Amino acid sequence: MKKVLVAGGAGYIGSHTAKELLKQGFEVVVFDNLSSGKKEFVRGGQLLVGDLMDKAAVRNIFKPGDIAAVLHFASLIQVGESYSDPRKYYDQNLISSLNLLDAMLEAGVKRFIFSSSAAVYGAPQQIPIPEDHPLLPFNPYGQTKFFVEKILQDYDRAYGMKFISLRYFNAAGADPGGELGEMHNPETHLIPNILSAVLGKKEYLEIYGTDFPTPDGTAVRDYIHVTDLSSAHVLALQKLLSSSRSEFINLGTNKGYSVREIVAKAEEITGKKVPSRPKSRREGDVPVLLASKEKAERLLGWKLHYSEIETIIETAWKWHKKLI
Ligand code: UFG
Repeated sequence: MKKVLVAGGAGYIGSHTAKELLKQGFEVVVFDNLSSGKKEFVRGGQLLVGDLMDKAAVRNIFKPGDIAAVLHFASLIQVGESYSDPRKYYDQNLISSLNLLDAMLEAGVKRFIFSSSAAVYGAPQQIPIPEDHPLLPFNPYGQTKFFVEKILQDYDRAYGMKFISLRYFNAAGADPGGELGEMHNPETHLIPNILSAVLGKKEYLEIYGTDFPTPDGTAVRDYIHVTDLSSAHVLALQKLLSSSRSEFINLGTNKGYSVREIVAKAEEITGKKVPSRPKSRREGDVPVLLASKEKAERLLGWKLHYSEIETIIETAWKWHKKLI
C-alpha cells in the first residue's frame, strides 16, 4: 500500500481527494493548519496539524522510505484578496510550496501533484484553452500558481522532482455521499452564494457584470464537480508513480454556463427564487473561461461522472441545506 501526503487535505478539494485516495487503497497522511480546513473533513487516514510555513514541522513529516508522493492543495485562494494583499499571497503560497518541496528533496521523495489553476492563463486568447496556451496570469493569486509551476520545472531539471500540475477551472458541487462539501469563509464562489441567497443566509446574490460580450451579458465559466476533480488526482498520481513524466493538465469540462444560466438551474433544482441584483464587474473577471479536457482524457483516461450542471447544483444544494 502506497503512503501519500496530502497537504491541505482538510480543505474543500483536498478532503474530497483524500477520501478518493483512501477508497483507491492509498494510505493517507493529511497535513493541514486548519486555518480554513476542518478536521471533520478528514474522513480517514492520519491527520497531522501543522503549518507549511514552519520548516521544521514540514521536515518532521518525512521519514526515509516512507511517503511515496505528495499532493499539495494548501493555498490561499481568493483572487480579490490577492489584489488587496499580494504580500500575503506571495509569502504563503510560494514559501509554503518551497518548504514542502525542499523537505521532500531532503527525504528523497520526488513525486508531486500540484493544485494549479486556470488563473495561470490570464485572459484567454483561444477557447477552449489548451495547456500550451500562453501563460499570462494577471492577478497575484494566478501569479503564485504560475511561479510554483516554474519552480517545479526547475526542480525537475536540477533535482529530478517529477510533478503533475493540475490546472483547475471552476471547482463546484459536493461529495455525493453527503459527507463533505464547500465551506469557505468568506465565501466568494458563485454556487454557494446562490444557495445562501436561496436559504436566506444572504439577502441577495450580487451578479458581477451584466455587460460581458456573452449571450446574456453575464460571465461564462466551466464548472467541474469536485468528485471528478478528485478522481483526476488519483489518476494523475498513478500516472506519476508509474511513468515519472512531468505534465501540466487542465481539469475542466469544456462546457460553459453563464451566471444567469446557473441561477436559472438553481431555481429549477431548489424550487425557489434566487433574489439577485446586478453589480459592476469584479476586477480581473474575463467574459469566458473554458478548458480543453482532451489532454486529461487522453493521458489519464479521465472520465467525467458528476459534472452535469444539475448534479453539481443538486449535490451542493444537499450539502448547503445540511449546513443550516
Ligand atoms: N459571481 C457572481 N456573484 C458571486 C460570485 C461569483 O456574479 O457572488 C460570478 C463571477 O463574477 C464569475 C462567476 O460568477 O463570473 C464565477 O465566479 P467564482 O468566484 O465562483 O469563480 P471564478 O471564476 O472567479 O474563480 C475560479 C476559482 C479561482 C480561479 C479562477 C480562474 O475560484 O481560484 O476560477 O480560473 F482563479
